[in-house]
Amino acid sequence: MPHDTQSTTPVVRHAAVADAEAIARIFAGPRAIWGTLQIPFPTAEKWRKRLEEGQNAGIFSLVACVDLEPVGILGLHTHPHEPRIRHAASLGMAVRDDWQRRGIGRQLVQAAVDLADDWLGISRLELDVYVDNEPAILLYQRFGFQVEGTKRRAALREGRWVDVLVMARLRETQVP
Ligand SMILES: CC(C)(COP(=O)(O)OP(=O)(O)OC[C@H]1O[C@@H](n2cnc3c(N)ncnc32)[C@H](O)[C@@H]1OP(=O)(O)O)[C@@H](O)C(=O)NCCC(=O)NCCS
Repeated sequence: MPHDTQSTTPVVRHAAVADAEAIARIFAGPRAIWGTLQIPFPTAEKWRKRLEEGQNAGIFSLVACVDLEPVGILGLHTHPHEPRIRHAASLGMAVRDDWQRRGIGRQLVQAAVDLADDWLGISRLELDVYVDNEPAILLYQRFGFQVEGTKRRAALREGRWVDVLVMARLRETQVP
């Protein structure tokens, strides 16, 4: 997969079941696993199932593609069947290790924020991020996410407990 063509502009679109193999490749990278709750050695089959089930469970999966290949993914988890939290959604994301730091994360978060604000009527976006995941924390802060608290020993990572920050972005502007 060539990735030295800086002129190739990533394209964001909804994920399809046929993207399962490329998504498994994203989560095969050590940095992608380090920053998320994914288990090493992901399979395309698992992702095929997730993508199939997600469509009915209120999960909007966006992918950023370069030369048609998904190299970044963001899942927006909504609550269409729970009236009291219908205004809230959570997100999780990863960019393939060899595509990080090229603007793809920013493009995916922008797409998710636009989808949430302008099309889904979501006014609270929330997420969990490891306390030492500086790249992700900086990225979310750029979009107005603020730290709300810390979950202690929230997850196991590389044999150690790690604390997690809860971050959220409240849409302040009213729909006209
Ligand atoms: C966090 C992650 C999604 C960022 O995606 P990315 O495509 O690498 O980020 P971008 O290139 O779009 O950078 C956007 C902003 O994020 C921050 N950022 C990204 N990588 C950074 C790094 N290595 N160091 C410091 N800041 C960084 C910067 O603020 C950057 O803006 P700038 O380039 O103008 O300084 C990516 O590093 C990743 O997939 N990490 C592994 C999985 C993960 O941690 N997922 C998040 C789970 S909460």
